[in-house]
Amino acid sequence: MTDRIAVLPPAVADQIAAGEVVERPASVVKELVENALDAGARTVRVAIEDGGKSLIRVSDDGAGMSPADAVLALARHATSKIRDASELIGVATFGFRGEALPAIASVSRFELETSPDGVSGTALRAVGGKREDVRDAVRQRGSTVTVRALFFNTPARRKFLRAQASETRAVVEALTVLALARPDVAFSLSSDDRVLLELPPAASLLERIRGLWGPALADTLLPIAHREGALEIQGFAQRPAQAKPTGRKGYVCVRGRPIRDPFLLRAAEAGYRSTIAPGDRPSLILCLDLPGDAVDVNVHPAKLEVRFREKFFVEQVVAVAVRRALGPLAAAAPLQRVREAALGGAAGAGGPGGADGSNGIAIPSPVTTGELFAAASRGGEPGARPLVLQVFDTYLLFQSAVGVAIVDQHSAHERVLYEGVLAQLSGDGAPAQRLLLPLTLEFAAPELEALETHRELLRRIGYEVAPFAGRTVVVHTAPNPHPRFDAARCLQELVADLAGGRFGGRANRLERFAATFACRAAIKAGQHLEPEEIRELVARLLATSLPAHDVHGRPTIVQLPKDELERRFGRS
Ligand SMILES: Nc1ncnc2c1ncn2[C@@H]1O[C@H](COP(=O)(O)OP(=O)(O)O)[C@@H](O)[C@H]1O
Ligand SMILES: [Mg+2]
Repeated sequence: MTDRIAVLPPAVADQIAAGEVVERPASVVKELVENALDAGARTVRVAIEDGGKSLIRVSDDGAGMSPADAVLALARHATSKIRDASELIGVATFGFRGEALPAIASVSRFELETSPDGVSGTALRAVGGKREDVRDAVRQRGSTVTVRALFFNTPARRKFLRAQASETRAVVEALTVLALARPDVAFSLSSDDRVLLELPPAASLLERIRGLWGPALADTLLPIAHREGALEIQGFAQRPAQAKPTGRKGYVCVRGRPIRDPFLLRAAEAGYRSTIAPGDRPSLILCLDLPGDAVDVNVHPAKLEVRFREKFFVEQVVAVAVRRALGPLAAAAPLQRVREAALGGAAGAGGPGGADGSNGIAIPSPVTTGELFAAASRGGEPGARPLVLQVFDTYLLFQSAVGVAIVDQHSAHERVLYEGVLAQLSGDGAPAQRLLLPLTLEFAAPELEALETHRELLRRIGYEVAPFAGRTVVVHTAPNPHPRFDAARCLQELVADLAGGRFGGRANRLERFAATFACRAAIKAGQHLEPEEIRELVARLLATSLPAHDVHGRPTIVQLPKDELERRFGRS
């Protein structure tokens, strides 16, 4: 018998490790930039050629390395960031495994130039992980890593690289993710001498978002700021009315570490319940902070995932945080800004900078009915009634704390009914009105079946229905959402929807039923309303949990901000 097991030579082991860490140029950029950030860099410059396939260069002004450290950095599991396993808990640096540099070096022509003090320096070259030479070099404090001919010695992997444009896109994305995690650091990216990103240090996350995507997107986002126990959530959420089915941006950071977490983004989307159309995906930037021992960061080779000890709790709190961000009246679409967004402000390099100088995260307190009345009472006379005006028999105008608020009466009533009905559906039911003259209605066979199946749901919203004879049923009680409510027509439409299978799966069944009822029962556009009705509708809208959004992904309120009026009339 001969022995068959042998330990692989280090170079081979490194190449195998590279299979986990280094998938494509973007992963090299990610690792090198993380190292720069870990070294305390204030400025990180990235240059690539041919999508990073022929060259990747990352320069920083961080701590640099001594000659001995520079040599050691290429050894497997050589790290300056932890000393033993206990330090893994709550580790604050991006790196901690000491795997990236040897892995990258093993599949490329690798150069490192580094200086810890701007006086002495070291230059080191390796080919396929084999060190070629080490010499003294002069340079400023910091490090530059150059990676050429990625995968030159692993042709099978080189073959898997995509076209230049696609690799370049992935590099932009990798850098974007880190730029969001560290707004305070300056980043630049050039590709074949074209500047793709130029991000000066930003005072806030919002300012960094402006720098990345321009003010058109940034200035319409709603701030998220929520804390539940030791879990703190900050970030930005797109207004529901601006969410689209494609092209959304979704970013998650946990303890400053960018991760991919589709579940967390799903949970955040759940916060949009009843405010967006099915299929719409809102843009979200979420930054979670929680104690180091509540999350394990050492679960993914490229550290792209983390494991929460209380995953369900975290997801729930995220949903609540998003929901709260959508709540205030200030979340209503501002007229001017929406228009700018529609025209498409110049995205890309160099936003205007954080004019407000704040951290960009401030939650306007929810507007209460009282506040509306206060805002609308002229001259602050106590008890003065707010003035609300109906125009085109469709829109309601009033003065809000922000400016001139314009409400769509149908959407508003839908929101009001929706929240009321949802509460009734999950509780005992609605205060129904017994009909003096019971209605008799005829239905087709599938509708009768739907009526039977959903009898309890219908009862809870106020319809008590009993079979009469043949295809005829008697309606004994009906809901009474407003004086012009057509109980028969609403029931017919509702039952047709039910029979049409529009309530599909069991998930969100109550919510969809409530939305359909609200839509069918709400006052319509073109309906003239009395002053008292108008005031009551607005007051009830403002008392809902999400007054600014209707149940189909449209706004209920748009606002013409006061400062916009002042700008237009030359007052400011
Ligand atoms: N840009 C840099 N500036 C200063 N030190 C660096 C830089 N890049 C790497 N290093 C040093 O090399 C070590 C190994 O890096 P790496 O292989 O990425 O492992 P890790 O980041 O997990 O420690 C780091 O711990 C750090 O001490
Ligand atoms: Mg590293």
